[in-house]
Amino acid sequence: MNAQPNYQSGFGNEFASEAVPGVLPEGQNSPQRVAHGLYAEQLSGTAFTAPRHANRRSWLYRIRPAAMHKPFAPLLHERFHNRFDEAPATPNQLRWDPLPLPEAPTDFVEGLLTLAGNGGAAEQAGVGIHLYAANRSMEGRFFYDADGELLIVPQQGRLRLATELGVLEVKPLEIAVIPRGVRFRVELLDATARGYVAENFGAMLRLPDLGPIGANSMALPRDFLAPVAAYEDIEGDFKLIAKFQGALWQAAIDHSPLDVVAWHGNYAPYKYDLTRFNTIGSISVDHPDPSIFTVLTSLSDTPGTANMDFVIFPPRWLVAEHTFRPPYFHRNVASEFMGLIEGAYDAKAGGFAPGGASLHNCMSGHGPDAASFEKASAADTGKPDHIMNTMAFMFETRKVIRPTQQALDAPQLQQDYYQCWQGIAKHFDAGSPS
Ligand SMILES: [Fe+2]
Repeated sequence: MNAQPNYQSGFGNEFASEAVPGVLPEGQNSPQRVAHGLYAEQLSGTAFTAPRHANRRSWLYRIRPAAMHKPFAPLLHERFHNRFDEAPATPNQLRWDPLPLPEAPTDFVEGLLTLAGNGGAAEQAGVGIHLYAANRSMEGRFFYDADGELLIVPQQGRLRLATELGVLEVKPLEIAVIPRGVRFRVELLDATARGYVAENFGAMLRLPDLGPIGANSMALPRDFLAPVAAYEDIEGDFKLIAKFQGALWQAAIDHSPLDVVAWHGNYAPYKYDLTRFNTIGSISVDHPDPSIFTVLTSLSDTPGTANMDFVIFPPRWLVAEHTFRPPYFHRNVASEFMGLIEGAYDAKAGGFAPGGASLHNCMSGHGPDAASFEKASAADTGKPDHIMNTMAFMFETRKVIRPTQQALDAPQLQQDYYQCWQGIAKHFDAGSPS
């Protein structure tokens, strides 16, 4: 059994780590000869000339350069793709039951299923929304995604993410982000694993600005953890899988590409414990927009309009008075894909199970179901509510989220979801006193 990995704390910091002391060069990035016969290689995640505050790159000191592998050939994976135009975009409210766990041996990459998305790698905007369900570790297989960074949201089962820059272990209620291009292997630490993946084709996820909130609250930079350098010096008959422009490719590689002995820079995988989120909200009346629950955001070219936000609905106290406390009825120019990691979501009395998903697209009306509305309308708001043991999340996007054909054909799609609003009673009486 592997020891618990070590981490470096901070968001987008200039990290430095070496698994063998003395490897990192001093005063320069690429000396004529790197210590211990290693090769220097730069991994750039943003344009060379991106503004300094947004510029991300790391220098890797590795046993072999990343260029050393055989040619790629197409690898068929019918369930994992970026074909977001193959089915009509729908204004219907959609909800899915959890994906069943696989019966045949299935690793993380094999277990990916594309549910929805928008944009794509070619336009460097949008997001792919995938589910994963796996029952074995990747063995002799390594993966990287050239199309986007991967935000992994485990719902069931712990993962050990062995990456070029080191090891992250994540469990449900934690998330991991693997930057575009970083090679990694997913190992299962439990018998099965299931969760969600946002494949962000746009600008790298970052912490949202805080505006009048001030310097603190929401996700704190020091709670983000990057790995320390850890390398494999092994040779064998391995496969390197690339996701490139929506399709998978596979190349033979005769060594582990996780052979980075030391690295420094600000382009690195990271993890975050969602239970550390400093949740804020109203202490008077009404509740603010859910943007106060944003953990990470991918900016678009339009100020204030995200390519994608990662938003959570964590345990919290509700104390606002004279207020309908659950999420109210709304329509939104943005599109909302929701998942549930554990517990129940406070706007729905039933039907939204952990591991399930819902989609409410641009301007599609949604909100509490009939039972939740009646309960909250009659609640005593002189007393606080303590919402506990729950963690829902949202991938909210600027562009309409288009379900894939397999998502619309899936037996998990709830054909009767719309019924949850059909029982909403008409209470209007113009002659009533209030
Ligand atoms: Fe919503």
